[in-house]
Amino acid sequence: MEKIIWKESFSVGVRKIDEQHKKLIKIINKLIETNDTKVYSETIYDTITKMTKYADYHFQTEEQYMIEYDYPDYSAHKEQHRGFRKKTVAFAVDTMKSKETLPIEILLYLQNWLINHIITSDMKYKSFFNKKGLN
Ligand code: FEO
Repeated sequence: MEKIIWKESFSVGVRKIDEQHKKLIKIINKLIETNDTKVYSETIYDTITKMTKYADYHFQTEEQYMIEYDYPDYSAHKEQHRGFRKKTVAFAVDTMKSKETLPIEILLYLQNWLINHIITSDMKYKSFFNKKGLN
């Protein structure tokens, strides 16, 4: 499976958020690299834990900016974050309980969700935040 490569078209125009997206991509790429590793290995466990924790931290950063700048689409955006969190936790629990290696569907979900979320939903706040002077 191909790793995710950061492109300038992923930039949401806010340096701190771009850096966080790059770090999330790096963690997901690490899972892609190790996808045939036994699921109970420390590498997989540590990387999944790191990914969920870092995703939470990132979502909080975005949501705080949205509250601070009174972003009109805040609730719907927050709901997308909540959906991702719920699904990844369910995936992680199911995988740890019943799978030998990390299923490709999980990797595809993480990869697709993150890219689509950045280029569609996150991108919607780009001009809004930039107009408020956040960059
Ligand atoms: Fe960058 Fe809305 O997550």
